[in-house]
Order: sequence, then C-alpha cells, then structure tokens
Amino acid sequence: MGDKIEVRCCQNLKTPYITFIWAEDKNGLIGKAGNLPWNLPADMKFFKETTMNDVVVMGRKTYESIPKRPLKNRINIVLTKQLDYKADGAIVCHSKEDVLNYIQEKQLQKPIHVIGGVSVFNLFKEEVNILYRTIIDETFKGDTYMPEINYKYFRVIDVTEGVVDEKNIYSHRFFIYERKKLVSIFN
Ligand SMILES: NC(=O)c1ccc[n+]([C@@H]2O[C@H](COP(=O)([O-])OP(=O)(O)OC[C@H]3O[C@@H](n4cnc5c(N)ncnc54)[C@H](OP(=O)(O)O)[C@@H]3O)[C@@H](O)[C@H]2O)c1
Repeated sequence: MGDKIEVRCCQNLKTPYITFIWAEDKNGLIGKAGNLPWNLPADMKFFKETTMNDVVVMGRKTYESIPKRPLKNRINIVLTKQLDYKADGAIVCHSKEDVLNYIQEKQLQKPIHVIGGVSVFNLFKEEVNILYRTIIDETFKGDTYMPEINYKYFRVIDVTEGVVDEKNIYSHRFFIYERKKLVSIFN
C-alpha cells in the first residue's frame, strides 16, 4: 500500500497519458458560483494523492477557485485566452496545442491530469485514457455540469466506497475507468 493509484491501476499505460479527475453529484453537477457545491475533505485527499508530483491542467476559472494556488508539488498548467494573464508558479497556455507542445518540449514523463472545468474536459475528450470520477450520492444546487462522456469506450477498473464520518457527511464512491482501446496523446 502507499503506492499512487496510477501505479497500481494503470500499468499498461505509458507516460505521458491524460486522465480526467473530478467529483459530481447524482445529476452530474460539478460547480456552483465558481466553487465546489459541497465540502468533502475525503475527495480533496483523494485528489491530492492522485495528482501529487504529476501535471495538472485546468481552465482559468478552476485555477482561480483554488485557495492555495498553484497546487503544491505539481506542474500547474492554466488555460486562458488572455495573452497577458499571469499566474505565479504556474505555466500559462493559450490553446490545446500550447499544452501539448509544452508536454512534448519538456519531455514530461508523468501523468497529465485534466482537472476541469467544462471546456477543458471537452478539449481533451479524445485523448483521455483514465477517468477518476467521484460520485456523491446527493443532489446539490449549482450552475456547472460535467460534459457528457461516452462511458461505452471505458471500463471500470476500480470502485471504492468512501467513508462517511463527521467531516465527510455525504455518501460517495471513487470510480476509476480505463479506456478500452488506449490512445496516445501525440498522433
Ligand atoms: N467538481 C469538480 O471536480 C470540479 C472540477 C473543476 C472545476 N469545478 C468547478 O467548475 C467551475 C469552473 O469551471 P468552468 O467550466 O466554469 O471554467 P474553467 O473551464 O475552469 O475555465 C474556463 C476558462 O478557461 C479558459 N479556457 C477554456 N478553454 C480554453 C482554450 N481552449 N484555450 C484557452 N483558454 C481556455 C478560458 O479562460 P479566459 O476566460 O481567461 O480566457 C475560460 O473562460 C467552478 O465552479 C469549479 O469549482 C469543479
């Protein structure tokens, strides 16, 4: 134990490969007024452990929703159309091609975790090989929904029931899916 989940579950994958990692409620809700609709520390812990020492790619709004940014001990890549955007300690990219060029130029041999939001998940739909999907068994109010994913191209490789306690009051499950026919980032 103590290994990162990727190491245990994704041994057939060659780095760099793309993952999505997110939490959604029963209706696929992921955001509310620029933040998460819930407080679930166990999911934050899962997120931290899964992404630690790797690369995280996110939209500008998701980046600005992180209280202590950039995320520590990870290469943070922020997507924005604003050419003068500054994000101390993060890499700013202006397109998908910019992100892929950065990964290639730096020869990053690490998992690349796309952490949202909606348009960034949509941007990498064809390249993603692993899905880390936390399902929270509740219905919340909010304004941002996970884009559709064609789950028929993926198989579930792990499901873990989250522990409900006084700090984590919502029933939740951690699903990990792998693409049935793995794809490469660079074609
Ligand atoms: N539950 C979860 O797991 C989870 C995960 C992530 C986010 N969220 C929530 O989702 C919400 C934020 O997500 P969002 O979908 O509204 O916004 P977002 O994707 O985080 O950010 C959108 C911004 O990203 C930039 N962007 C997107 N695509 C781009 C491209 N192709 N090229 C260049 N820049 C691009 C643009 O920035 P500019 O406007 O600067 O040009 C765009 O306005 C928050 O509520 C957050 O808490 C939840």
